[in-house]
Amino acid sequence: MIIAIDGPSGAGKSTLGKMLAKNLGLLYLDTGAMYRAVGLAVAKSGTSFENQDEIIEIARHSKIELIGEPDSLEVKLDGKDISAEIRTNEAGQAASIVSTISEVRKILVRHQRKLGENAPHGCVLDGRDIGTIVFPNADVKFFLTAKPEARARRRYEEERARGRVSTYEETLTEINLRDERDVSRADSPLSIAADAIVVDTSELDLTEVYELMLEKINSDER
Ligand code: DC
Repeated sequence: MIIAIDGPSGAGKSTLGKMLAKNLGLLYLDTGAMYRAVGLAVAKSGTSFENQDEIIEIARHSKIELIGEPDSLEVKLDGKDISAEIRTNEAGQAASIVSTISEVRKILVRHQRKLGENAPHGCVLDGRDIGTIVFPNADVKFFLTAKPEARARRRYEEERARGRVSTYEETLTEINLRDERDVSRADSPLSIAADAIVVDTSELDLTEVYELMLEKINSDER
């Protein structure tokens, strides 16, 4: 079974994706982590974010691995654990920039399809283009969304818990900047698949969203 979860940042995709994968015994694939890994590789190499050819080369030669259970997923770049490093705002912005390059998307989409297809019991993938491009035939597609203020509040609290010093206003500005880039890029912009179930999580708590998603998955099961 393939479950696609798309939506803007801070809508709860990864938390809910992990919960579903864990409880249904499926592989969890955080596709955003892959774009973050490429963004980080570019930043570390000192390459300019304007240099598309070099960025494509980096994407082509980087070994990106997602290892372990949903709760303790380790992201590796060329064998090195980068799980914490990719969670910074800078890595998020870098990911958003490299994700506008079609060739980078092709490389990562190929990788994602292979991992998803080879998962013995199926896979939950979270991202921006899962239901539209990566797995257009997914068994169930969700599009999680929430008001920018609710998403910024969640991100701000997550970042504070991780020790980042920033204000709520800064986080809101960053979220809006990334959303704008993600919806306006030419290749695979963030969009809602025609057959996706749209859930606005602004006023719902985690358990409510989780139960709603589970109900949809069970009712869709053949
Ligand atoms: O989900 P995230 O915040 O970790 O994603 C980081 C960036 O990667 C996001 O701003 C857009 C990009 N991305 C994408 O273009 N396609 C995906 N399937 C996942 C993420």
